Amino acid sequence: MTPTHNRVLVLNGPNLGRLGKRQPEIYGSTTHAELAEKCVEWGRELGLEVEVRQTNHEGAMLDWLNGAADEGNPVVLNAAAWTHYSYAIFDACAQLVAPLVEVHISDPHQRPEEFRHTSVVTPYAVEVVAGHGIDGYRMALEVIARS
Ligand code: DQA
Repeated sequence: MTPTHNRVLVLNGPNLGRLGKRQPEIYGSTTHAELAEKCVEWGRELGLEVEVRQTNHEGAMLDWLNGAADEGNPVVLNAAAWTHYSYAIFDACAQLVAPLVEVHISDPHQRPEEFRHTSVVTPYAVEVVAGHGIDGYRMALEVIARS
């Protein structure tokens, strides 16, 4: 199937719906709704049609990733904690046909918990953007726009 590169999915995993309230010293004060608005606007500036989704349910995320594989959509993925242990997410990323960019608001490699130092997404990502806060999503969309 021909990749529909101008339609990009920004997929956010568990607990990211609580952005703004959740540990603002780590994740900042921007809410998920505000992040979604910014992503759509950044996308528009880059000529991309961006759709932002968030779920706490791994099955829903897998369905979205499988859909992106079927439709040939590029994906910006913050799999949150699933990043570190979900082989189902690993297998779903393996099926993507258009560019995948991994995003983290914090930099998991700089954080003290050992479990954050591995990622099942990285092997399939064209780039990892981490530690740039919400701006990392803009950087990830720029990578997609260039690819
Ligand atoms: C995160 C980092 C993960 O380690 C953590 O589990 C998250 C958010 C980030 O965006 O910094 O939930 O992906």
